[in-house]
Amino acid sequence: MAQPERVKIAVIGVGHLGKNHARVLKELPAAELVAVVDSDPKKAGEIAERFHTEALTDYKQLKGRVDAVTIVVPTRHHYEVASWAFENGLHALVEKPMAYTIDECHKLNELAKKHKRILQVGHIERFNPALSSIRNAINTVAFIEADRLSPYPFRSTDVGVVMDVMIHDLDIILSIVGSEVEDIQAVCTPVLSKRHEDIASVRLTFKNGSVANITASRISDKSVRKMRIFCADRYLNLDFAGKQAWIYSKTPKLDQEDFHVENVDISGIDDLMQFVFNDLIRVEQVVIGEEEPLKEELKHFIHAVKTGERPKVGGEEGLAAIQLAHDILAAAREHYNKHVPEEHRRW
Ligand SMILES: NC(=O)c1ccc[n+]([C@@H]2O[C@H](COP(=O)([O-])OP(=O)(O)OC[C@H]3O[C@@H](n4cnc5c(N)ncnc54)[C@H](O)[C@@H]3O)[C@@H](O)[C@H]2O)c1
Repeated sequence: MAQPERVKIAVIGVGHLGKNHARVLKELPAAELVAVVDSDPKKAGEIAERFHTEALTDYKQLKGRVDAVTIVVPTRHHYEVASWAFENGLHALVEKPMAYTIDECHKLNELAKKHKRILQVGHIERFNPALSSIRNAINTVAFIEADRLSPYPFRSTDVGVVMDVMIHDLDIILSIVGSEVEDIQAVCTPVLSKRHEDIASVRLTFKNGSVANITASRISDKSVRKMRIFCADRYLNLDFAGKQAWIYSKTPKLDQEDFHVENVDISGIDDLMQFVFNDLIRVEQVVIGEEEPLKEELKHFIHAVKTGERPKVGGEEGLAAIQLAHDILAAAREHYNKHVPEEHRRW
């Protein structure tokens, strides 16, 4: 695969997220931001001016001018734009969710393979330093609790909260648990939206016995992005938004043969909390790097383009997350139809 000195790149779709792609790519020494593309000429012009690059309104004008693109248009257009990119010899980072349907994801994987192009999917939380900092501390997962809540975004309304928001946690959980999903219980409901779910509560059971309880909402009055991972001998607490992480692990005292917590005489202990969270359980706040997740993600993509190395969130991972999201929506639909009489159904 060609190894250009600086990867010539363009951003397609410079709305809420795409303008940040342009900002970061402009800063990366290994990339040359050749153009930004948006079907809205005003947006294309504004962002091009801000980052001293060319404004285009039709992505097909990029043909022969760039090595790679990042695709940050609404999800329903991902397939059309990404398939054009591969067919025209370009590498692509496709924002999450990878595409609208499972069939589209399969086709994109085939096209990327056929044209020997890099396909990375924008599951940005994999590059969140809070996750990277504890990744090696995760061992056998017993269960996971994930909460991802936000106020109504007035964007990404072409999909529901499972595809838009929960998909981040689905991708992370699949990468952590490393086992197939055996059972899905799911409840979803629309609140503000007419056609899509705004809240979802899901319980996944994996073949290896791990369980994940996942909540997603886009009608919350606060923003929360947290995950708690309970392993055999430790517990990891992650705050993606606050970029903070803690590891709770058992102290050697708990492994002493003659120590039984049931027999502890607490009458002589002044501070029970201190006893538990010091003598029995060690609490370590992990030092988190200052890296911007989007910058790490785009650096990773540029590196993959330059070296031909497989990105850590490729098309297979993108497809697996979409497949699980579809299975969750099917389970939730079954639950909804079973319990909501036809005349009251809104979803
Ligand atoms: N990774 C993340 O955390 C994250 C966060 C936000 C959005 N996203 C994803 O990014 C994508 C865009 O989301 P957004 O919130 O930035 O949306 P947005 O509506 O703010 O921006 C999309 C832009 O694409 C332009 N556009 C639409 N069709 C186009 C076409 N055919 N050619 C060129 N431009 C076109 C629109 O004019 C708009 O400016 C979605 O797939 C969304 O799921 C990912």
